[in-house]
Amino acid sequence: MDVQELLRLADGLAFAKTGKRLDDLQQAVVRGTWQGKRYSEISKEVHCTERHIRNVASKLWQILSKILEEDVNKSNFRSTMERYEISKISNSGNFNLVHKGNINVCTENSHPPKAPQHSPPTQNPNEDNTEQKPRLDLRDAPDVRTFYNYANSPLTTLENSIAHQNSRLLTITGMTGTGKSAIARNLIPQIQTQFDRIIWRSLRTSPPLETTLKTLIQFLSNQNPPLPRGGEGGVFPANTDDQLSILIETLRENRCLIILDDVQQILSSGQLAGHYKPGYENYGTLFKLIGEIPHNSCLILNSWEPPSDILTFTDDNSAVCLLQLTGLGEAATEILREKGLLDEEYWPELIELYQGNPLWLKLVAQTINNLFNGRVSQYLSYQPVFLGDELTPILQQHYQRLSEIEKQVISQLSNESEPVSFTQLMAKCQGSQGELFKAIQSLDRRGMIEKLSCETETVLTIPPVLKQYVKMVGE
Ligand SMILES: Nc1ncnc2c1ncn2[C@@H]1O[C@H](COP(=O)(O)OP(=O)(O)O)[C@@H](O)[C@H]1O
Ligand SMILES: [Mg+2]
Repeated sequence: MDVQELLRLADGLAFAKTGKRLDDLQQAVVRGTWQGKRYSEISKEVHCTERHIRNVASKLWQILSKILEEDVNKSNFRSTMERYEISKISNSGNFNLVHKGNINVCTENSHPPKAPQHSPPTQNPNEDNTEQKPRLDLRDAPDVRTFYNYANSPLTTLENSIAHQNSRLLTITGMTGTGKSAIARNLIPQIQTQFDRIIWRSLRTSPPLETTLKTLIQFLSNQNPPLPRGGEGGVFPANTDDQLSILIETLRENRCLIILDDVQQILSSGQLAGHYKPGYENYGTLFKLIGEIPHNSCLILNSWEPPSDILTFTDDNSAVCLLQLTGLGEAATEILREKGLLDEEYWPELIELYQGNPLWLKLVAQTINNLFNGRVSQYLSYQPVFLGDELTPILQQHYQRLSEIEKQVISQLSNESEPVSFTQLMAKCQGSQGELFKAIQSLDRRGMIEKLSCETETVLTIPPVLKQYVKMVGE
């Protein structure tokens, strides 16, 4: 058994017992123990105290002891796991995590049979079978699909924010296809044991705040009809402030996780990023209250751009966290492999071209399969980037939301073959310096501009796919 196999096995067992993956420190303990290192050596490697590492290790040994029903400690860990592996193979045991390189692959039906209480949430909207399980309403959530995770991925960041920093308000932003919904959906099985109630709602149809609050309160407070506090004789209060106080009280009484997906649908088009559509400004009060007021629950927002209120929280406030997705990185190769593409040496180029965006890569992989029998090199030999009927409307939706000044900036950048400095850009655009700065900041929040650090200054460019789209629009 090598160290990767050992990590995989320990991770699978820990997940089965706790519903949580091994964190970085636990992995360091597993790795160090396998290598025969002392706790003092391991602690130096991970820059923490020996006492802390001993505690982490002790808890890990306890978890493994319970699940294996025998005493596991530092000295017998390796041999116990090797014995367990052999018995598992002979019993054809199945584990829920397949590792490829340092990428974890979670699949829908692969959760450990030993731990039914931690199996992934079902689509049954109001399941409430056991005490350990939270009440779930995932009617609006996407299905769990194959999901490639990797070290320091946003999924890990979110998990840590929720489990260790008690974050109350997390916003995940990124263009269509960056994996916002997939990450939030795959987060649920990892952290569900920490919550009493979990509800997923999409704002795709732009519901008014009152409708959303009613749904949330009804489910989270377990009252049907909802609690009358602040209202008259059992009637849901008409006043938004009263509705908000009921929700906040509910979030204090139970540990709830709320996921609001497609939040961009309550935000405006034709303006700088983050402004609410007229009539939807009161969502800002909800977001602010949840971020500001102490409680144990958590709200996750998925959006193309952060709502303006989120940006008023200061960076050092760990209760509020903004996560901008920037593509899958090396995990994207797994998508190309899954699609059966050829010419692996050209994959990094393809991934860069499509910014590691999993949806865009899936779409282009289909095109490459259809036109070139999977030959990536042949596809890349043609210039410019071919957008296809699937990607064009996606880019169009993002482009159409921009304000005029942002369109101007994007269009200037699409004419440049190299990244340009702020000064060069300003010389070519109309508008005051202040207006241009705001436009660049807004494009950055939308994930539609890339800021690169050159030797002495920051230079700007736009992703190749967007560049191609903007050129097409201008023709
Ligand atoms: N880490 C990942 N591994 C594998 N597939 C992914 C991953 N992230 C996203 N995907 C896939 O990419 C597509 C787009 O993801 P999605 O979450 O719908 O994006 P968004 O919500 O940002 O528009 C979906 O098919 C999803 O399953
Ligand atoms: Mg989505």
